[in-house]
Amino acid sequence: MRVVLGVSGGIAAYKAALLLRLLSEAGHEVTVVPTAAALRFVGEPTWAALSGRPVATDVWTDVHEVPHVRLGQSADLVVVAPATADLLARAAAGMADDLLTNTLLTARCPVVMAPAMHTEMWEHPATQANVETLTQRGVHVVPPAAGRLTGADSGPGRLPEPEHLFEVCQRELARADRVTRTSGARQDLVGTRVLVTAGGTREPLDPVRFLGNRSSGKQGVALAAAARRRGAIVTLVLAHAEVPPPPDVEVVRAGSALELAAATRAALPSHDVVVMAAAVADFRPDAYVETKIKKSYDTEDEEPGPTIRLVRNPDILAGLVAERGEATDPLIVGFAAETGDEDGTVLEHGRTKLERKGCDLLVVNEVGIDKAFGQDENSVVILRRGVENPVAEVGPAGKAAIADAVLDAILDARRRRG
Ligand code: C5P
Repeated sequence: MRVVLGVSGGIAAYKAALLLRLLSEAGHEVTVVPTAAALRFVGEPTWAALSGRPVATDVWTDVHEVPHVRLGQSADLVVVAPATADLLARAAAGMADDLLTNTLLTARCPVVMAPAMHTEMWEHPATQANVETLTQRGVHVVPPAAGRLTGADSGPGRLPEPEHLFEVCQRELARADRVTRTSGARQDLVGTRVLVTAGGTREPLDPVRFLGNRSSGKQGVALAAAARRRGAIVTLVLAHAEVPPPPDVEVVRAGSALELAAATRAALPSHDVVVMAAAVADFRPDAYVETKIKKSYDTEDEEPGPTIRLVRNPDILAGLVAERGEATDPLIVGFAAETGDEDGTVLEHGRTKLERKGCDLLVVNEVGIDKAFGQDENSVVILRRGVENPVAEVGPAGKAAIADAVLDAILDARRRRG
């Protein structure tokens, strides 16, 4: 496979030399694209000797071969390691001021970026916003490791070990290869109308308070983005999310479970596929208090506060399945966040839920305090009704990769029922 290894100017550039060796030894044809700053850390002869190929350093060499577009267009994978704060900023802004950023703009293959920098730079809101932007666009950003940095200080910001980055690259290459083989061109959803719900609902209590949940909306938004990328016409019913909706999709905002239920039901007949990725509250306060609920200042501290009574929200997913009735369209996909317990494994709970809800596919992920919610990497198994074993197991992988795997399973299920 053709890999472009972009190297930007950080001390960790030396580790990229080891990644290059691993990629070359695995049989990939690797073209190294170091930035001018990277060449101050590790020189061109090292990259040329380890890759066995000429090193592409600027847009002005071999201009007749148009390197600024050719490299990106023909790559099966672009990996940038280390990705400095500056490189992340330029990539997020869509700049094209050197060969590497030109390559990133022309690449249509998977892109992996491994940031490395000092902790303060990594944690700066500007860098975090750039990472978020890139992740939303489908870039697989590998979080930096924590440990000793260049000076005496330590903290998150280290480039992960080359072996780990190599594994991430191999996974992305295998996935891209599989998608190309199973669905030909990636435009395999052209004309398909996909409805995605995403984010966490907020159940209003009074004018300033609500009951919410920890859903970031990232997986649902990644699904909408991936479906759009693959040619679908996408409606995104969006509850509260930490990320913005992707471009070119119709967005319908929904705050509470009842609003989300109404928006989804209204859109059901005009869609071929419904993906219920939203985290819908099972309960809501039984009454909305029109004025802010006040605490009393003249009672003792131990005085119990007000009691909130909850009532059940409708199960929207099960409702959509009922509404569809005997028809086979639209295809309906549910999500299940599960933990294993004494009553069964994550998978067993998933199977039971698939039966109970009656949807066609169920995407099951294991949740825990630091698993799935708000994280950029996730692992899922995909179950299909009537099939004993999972039809796919994906991860740990970025939410964009998970989204593509869910869409692959949807395409497969639709093909099977003709
Ligand atoms: O039952 P549980 O909440 O685990 O099911 C999760 C799936 O059901 C998700 O697809 C979610 O969007 C959907 N759901 C729903 N209405 C609810 C609760 C969950 O549609 N009230």
